Amino acid sequence: MKKVFFFAITLFCFAIFYSCSKDSGTTTTPVDPGLTYAKDIAPIMSSYCTSCHGSSGGVNLSTKATVISNLTASINAIQRGSMPPGSNKVSAADLTKLKSWDRVQ
Ligand code: HEC
Repeated sequence: MKKVFFFAITLFCFAIFYSCSKDSGTTTTPVDPGLTYAKDIAPIMSSYCTSCHGSSGGVNLSTKATVISNLTASINAIQRGSMPPGSNKVSAADLTKLKSWDRVQ
């Protein structure tokens, strides 16, 4: 009987721990599985970035793989306001898409 009790307590503790560790992620932008590279991300890159960041060297934002490898730096540069230079700034909605894009897609 005691063993069953301890098992139940252990299970309870794991349940609490699991739910708490899940909660700690809510401050980041949730991943949106509806967003895809082809439908959502490539058009954003071509309207704001690929005129300068094509495949001709430097930061390349013209393919899914290169966008993924530059995504963190790109989001930071957009938030700093340094990219894109000029007045064609990324809209808040498009920035949210970049942040919430599930890169598996
Ligand atoms: C008018 C041209 C131009 C446009 C448009 C542009 N960039 Fe840049 N970007 C540059 C230049 C020039 C550099 C510095 C040289 C380099 O690294 O290629 C740079 C550097 C960067 C870097 C590396 C340096 C850093 O700040 O981390 C990132 C990341 C970047 N750009 C992202 C972007 C993104 C994302 C967009 C679109 C939202 C964008 N850029 C649009 C010209 C541009």
